[in-house]
Amino acid sequence: MMIARFPTIDEWADHVADQFVALLNAKPNARLCLPTGNTPLPVYERVAAAVRDRRVSFCEAEVFLLDEFGGVPADAAGRCDVMLRRGLIDHVDLPEDRYHRIDTHAGDVDASARAYDARLHPAFDLTILGIGANGHIGMNEPGAPVDSPTRRVDLAQETMDGAERYFGGTHRPTWGITVGVKPLLASREVWLLATGVSKAPVLQRLATEPVGPPLPASYLHVHPNCTLFADAAALPGRATLEVAT
Ligand code: PGA
Repeated sequence: MMIARFPTIDEWADHVADQFVALLNAKPNARLCLPTGNTPLPVYERVAAAVRDRRVSFCEAEVFLLDEFGGVPADAAGRCDVMLRRGLIDHVDLPEDRYHRIDTHAGDVDASARAYDARLHPAFDLTILGIGANGHIGMNEPGAPVDSPTRRVDLAQETMDGAERYFGGTHRPTWGITVGVKPLLASREVWLLATGVSKAPVLQRLATEPVGPPLPASYLHVHPNCTLFADAAALPGRATLEVAT
């Protein structure tokens, strides 16, 4: 895992957004797996500005949602689809049919997850991930196997508690559908984003614990092209991250 560490969130976001713009300009039809949550918002804001300034375009790209909460109304403020639209999709020139959402309202949720998994080939060119305080990536919670496909998952307690900040207390999802660890690791390139002091303990765990199911983000250590982009608050006093095996 490569490490890129920035003194401030602004410098972090400028850099990640510049990298994103460069990647999309180099491969305009890139297949992108994108997260929601609060972490990527400053990056998305800058990418949207780059599209407005005609420095990049999403018109040939494909965007796949990383995960989605189940059991809540389709238009709930904290739904991943709603958050990604609000943060990025509504502000860029991505054609509607190139934006791939996860259907959690289907009668057969497992079949819906399998159908989404089947659309993840060829592999993503770029996957961007946040990291949960418990080490989850997407909704791959502690215990997720390295070869897990896209599937319905029960949320960990911390994730249910944390989701309240997205839903403003109106809904409390207990499950979701997530792109599995297997398709995430198949991505050509992975960027793990972490900012703020609240992420420091989990990044410390990432630096010291073995690769395995208790810390799903640790699987990224075995990915050949993964970069952790962090600010100094999330990665205090640390210039490199050891790979724990
Ligand atoms: P956050 O969520 O970006 O809102 O901190 C990250 C995550 O839980 O994966």
